[in-house]
Amino acid sequence: MTMTGSDCGRFSRRDFTRILWAGGAASVVSARALAAVSQVSVPPAPAVPDEAYWNSVRSQFLMPADTTVLCAANLCPTPAPVIQALLDATRDIDKDPGAENRRKWGEGREATRRILAEFLHAAPEEIVITRNTSEGNNIVSSGVDLKPGDEVLLFADNHPSVNTAFQEKAKRFGFTIRRVDLAEMHPGPEYYLDAFQSAIGPNTRLLAVTHVTASVGDLMPVKEICRMARVRGILTLVDGAQSFGVLNIDLADMQPDFYTGSAHKWPCGPKEFGVLYINKKSESRLWPSIISLYGGAVGASRRFEAMGQRDEAGFVAFGEALKLQNKIGRRAIEARGRELAQRFIEGLRQIMGVRVWTHPRADRSAAIVTFLPGRTDPAKLAAALYENDHIVTNARGSGVRGGIRLSPHFYVLHAEVDRTLAAIRKYMTSL
Ligand SMILES: Cc1ncc(COP(=O)(O)O)c(C=O)c1O
Repeated sequence: MTMTGSDCGRFSRRDFTRILWAGGAASVVSARALAAVSQVSVPPAPAVPDEAYWNSVRSQFLMPADTTVLCAANLCPTPAPVIQALLDATRDIDKDPGAENRRKWGEGREATRRILAEFLHAAPEEIVITRNTSEGNNIVSSGVDLKPGDEVLLFADNHPSVNTAFQEKAKRFGFTIRRVDLAEMHPGPEYYLDAFQSAIGPNTRLLAVTHVTASVGDLMPVKEICRMARVRGILTLVDGAQSFGVLNIDLADMQPDFYTGSAHKWPCGPKEFGVLYINKKSESRLWPSIISLYGGAVGASRRFEAMGQRDEAGFVAFGEALKLQNKIGRRAIEARGRELAQRFIEGLRQIMGVRVWTHPRADRSAAIVTFLPGRTDPAKLAAALYENDHIVTNARGSGVRGGIRLSPHFYVLHAEVDRTLAAIRKYMTSL
């Protein structure tokens, strides 16, 4: 059951008036109030979830039945209970924007930090709630003290929020950059571990690598790369924009110094929220880039989250999105994304002329599939899929590793994969 705005308002006034006068009991009461803001009705995934189960998950989203959304790598839809939580909190704040009324939403922000910490297998003290992956990446590239003589190692297929940002900062701070090239098809985790290891020099201070690349969905051996860097005293930034919210991330196991992600991608959370994980051991190596009021309550968030006024409702909605994923089951979500991607790869391979750039092996890819549709212009194909069939994809140039990117997530059904494949086949002969 989802509470209506007025239910929420009634609940809020009664309980939250108590918060104001109850002193020490405040956090207990407000936690109960926040839990009631939205209740997710989807049940946990059974051991072997069938299409009927995933259909019930899809019904939590607003997409009409004839709209197939395959652009998770760009932006994910937000499910109805999370939108409701966002609206309820926004309404409450706008009814009474006084600091006294908003205090409880500050507790909501800390509750989201705890959920995030558990979600990523980290401590709340290591979690900074940012606006997006770009901001987290830039907090790191601006915040590590890099000087002339220092070297930064970048993977060639990183996002501009990593590579262009480091290039620009190298001009200002005088450090140098070395790159690890990418292979056309993922040659295996050992290849990339070796490539990073060979590129490290005596002056390498930091390396930045994308967990799952946005281009074709290459899965990088980040745990092994972080371990190799750690023993050499080199800091690691793992860009998790394409892994957070789809892979079952365990930062205690991966042990990067920094990891970043966005709420509005695979976690299906509110727009303009993200996470920056700062390993406790590495916090002292980072300077804050934005210094203002209203930091978080614990650990790194005190220094790195003091960015001035934020959207308190969005913090809470971010937590609700993560709760929905926890409720379904993180392993089930990862397995579903991978299974949908495999279904695409197998289907695409049967279409004459298609070149799939994404390696099908589980240690080389996750839930992103990019393919070149023979001689068909990818932009025209994407437009035809969208305009005629309401299938949302991303066109990404037309050369090597270019084409159409499909990024299915747990709200996509087998029938939608099959109708997409049929439409691709049709347009490849008719466009
Ligand atoms: C690998 C990677 N890093 C960073 C980003 C930037 O994400 P945001 O726009 O949410 O900051 C993206 C966006 O697609 C991405 O794919």
